[in-house]
Amino acid sequence: MKYIEVENYAEMSKKGAALIAAEVVSKPNAVLGLATGSTPVGIYKQLIEWFRNGDLDFSGVTSVNLDEYLGLDGTNPQSYRYFMNDNLFNHVNIDKSRTFVPSGTADDLASEGEAYDKLIKSLGGIDIQLLGIGEDGHIGFNEPDDCFTGPTHVVDLDESTVVANARFFDSIDDVPRKAITMGMASIMQAKKVLLVANGPKKYDIIQKAFFGPITPKVPASILQLHGDLTVIYSKI
Ligand code: F6R
Repeated sequence: MKYIEVENYAEMSKKGAALIAAEVVSKPNAVLGLATGSTPVGIYKQLIEWFRNGDLDFSGVTSVNLDEYLGLDGTNPQSYRYFMNDNLFNHVNIDKSRTFVPSGTADDLASEGEAYDKLIKSLGGIDIQLLGIGEDGHIGFNEPDDCFTGPTHVVDLDESTVVANARFFDSIDDVPRKAITMGMASIMQAKKVLLVANGPKKYDIIQKAFFGPITPKVPASILQLHGDLTVIYSKI
């Protein structure tokens, strides 16, 4: 594991974006695993800036996102599809038809999960997976549990996750209680993993996840077993 502590959010974002940009430059048809939430917003802003300056070309890139709330379609501003369009895809030259987010409105969610895993396999796997981390150690929406779950699956969100995510909604009652998330298998099979976190609220979980025992009670801790993991943490 490469563990990098930086001074501030801007530095975390720039370093994180540089690792993703390096992937796109060295492999123009890279498969990027992407995340939502507040942490990666600065990385997306930096990637957009490099694209606008003519330094990055996303025309050959494919993306697969980690997760989506159940019941929200892509037109809903709180959906993760909307977030990705708004924070990245609408501002770079990625082919939208090559950007994938699990569907939270599929009739048969079990089949949706299977199809999503097959899709990732058919793309040849993920070249670099970007992750944030929840204060309870979740990655994607893999919440603390008695075991690690492999395939893409539906989850009940922990109350702490619902509370943490309420800041994006008008009221906590509007936060969906369920989501569909990539499981540990696709995340662990990504060729590279880049996890970013910032702020004092994330300090304890970063210590537990990367310097403590590997346990499904701290889902991110399994990443200690990944062969190419970079963690970038900024205290502020
Ligand atoms: C988002 C995701 C989540 C977030 C995590 C941290 O796609 O999968 O695991 O990365 O909840 O969220 P922020 O960055 O908002 O603190």
